[in-house]
Amino acid sequence: MKPSLSGKVTQFKKSKSPVREIMDLANPQFFRQAGLDPNEVISFSGGWVNHEAPDELRQAYADIIHDPARFHSSGAYPPTIGMPECRRALADFEKHLYGPSMQLGPENIAIGCNSTQLTFNLMHILLDPGDTILLPDPAYCNYPSQAASQEGVKIARFGVLDTEEWRYAAEEKKDQFAACIRREKSKVTLLCAPDNPTSQVPSTAFVTAALEAARDVGGFLVIDFAYKALVWADTPPEYFSWGPTENFLSIHSNSKWCRGLGRRLGWVEAPVQIVEALEAVQGSSILCPDTLHQMALTDYIAAGMAADSIRPYMRQTAGLYKAAAEQTIEAIETFLKMPCLVPQGGLYTVVRTDVESSAFTRQILENTGVIVVPGWGFGETLKHAVRLSYGPLVHNLEKIPQAMQRMGTFLKR
Ligand SMILES: Cc1ncc(COP(=O)(O)O)c(C=O)c1O
Repeated sequence: MKPSLSGKVTQFKKSKSPVREIMDLANPQFFRQAGLDPNEVISFSGGWVNHEAPDELRQAYADIIHDPARFHSSGAYPPTIGMPECRRALADFEKHLYGPSMQLGPENIAIGCNSTQLTFNLMHILLDPGDTILLPDPAYCNYPSQAASQEGVKIARFGVLDTEEWRYAAEEKKDQFAACIRREKSKVTLLCAPDNPTSQVPSTAFVTAALEAARDVGGFLVIDFAYKALVWADTPPEYFSWGPTENFLSIHSNSKWCRGLGRRLGWVEAPVQIVEALEAVQGSSILCPDTLHQMALTDYIAAGMAADSIRPYMRQTAGLYKAAAEQTIEAIETFLKMPCLVPQGGLYTVVRTDVESSAFTRQILENTGVIVVPGWGFGETLKHAVRLSYGPLVHNLEKIPQAMQRMGTFLKR
């Protein structure tokens, strides 16, 4: 008799997944299946960076690999929530970048394989059946499926876009947002800064209002800081230097800032109670994170802080993506003349299409060889919009106006 998979996963596999759709759209095999010449395709689908990792980080890996004893050590299991020296290095790194007064110690750091896994495990830790998680609309398309995998959790959404004027309206809606947290008694409110997909940076006033409301209802405000280093402003918002408290925690990743997308490492900054809970849960979900990446990162942070090279590297990197963002907005205004959001950081803009997002994406792809991501997976507010990522094109800026010109010519027809 053929055994069946769980009902839950069967249902999940059947449902349309925005993350799977984005990964497929970025796959050269998919271009060929769609009859496109991969050399002609210009893709804005990938939510990833393409700048070089710091040379000192590469060197740190090389030093470990060339030292037989250290290479041997990198083959050992580390503790479940990370090596003590790496947890300390990450706390020092955050203080080095965001201010020595940040209340953060190694006891507040839990290292995991990556922020996707940590977010998944955190939802398990923070949410019970019957609890509500509040997400802005739009929000990163992985959050709803991560939340839905927790039995009986309700997902509430709060629109932060003015879809008429195509503006990010979080600031003026901060009191309504706080009221929504109180009304829904949301156990978890999950924000992202800079945000995916809007590339806006929520203001400190907005985040403060959310935190006060979360405190009132005994909930958690969680910020996903996957793009923390990629902000244009020289002075980041004040909450970038908040340490964790009873009601506040944050999720971090090595994927974007040092182009560690494939060298997977993430961490959570949280009160000790949550760090201990992650230790319990990670023991059975991942056993422990990767040792080699922790060793190299620890060495890089020590050397980079001593030489004061980390901040300049991050500012230079942010400058690259700011230039790509400017090129993208200028090309949209010139060739598409469609409403879009001007990024304040991150890798994306969202463009209003006024037609259903999947149909628009398909038509554009088949007729122009340009790949954009349909907005539906990010929430109701992007049903008639698409997300464009300039991240992968950071070293090929000339392709941005080329793509927009192709799209503009097709859309005029
Ligand atoms: C908002 C956000 N969080 C997390 C991730 C994934 O991070 P990681 O590579 O650490 O799993 C992404 C990837 O695009 C993202 O956009």
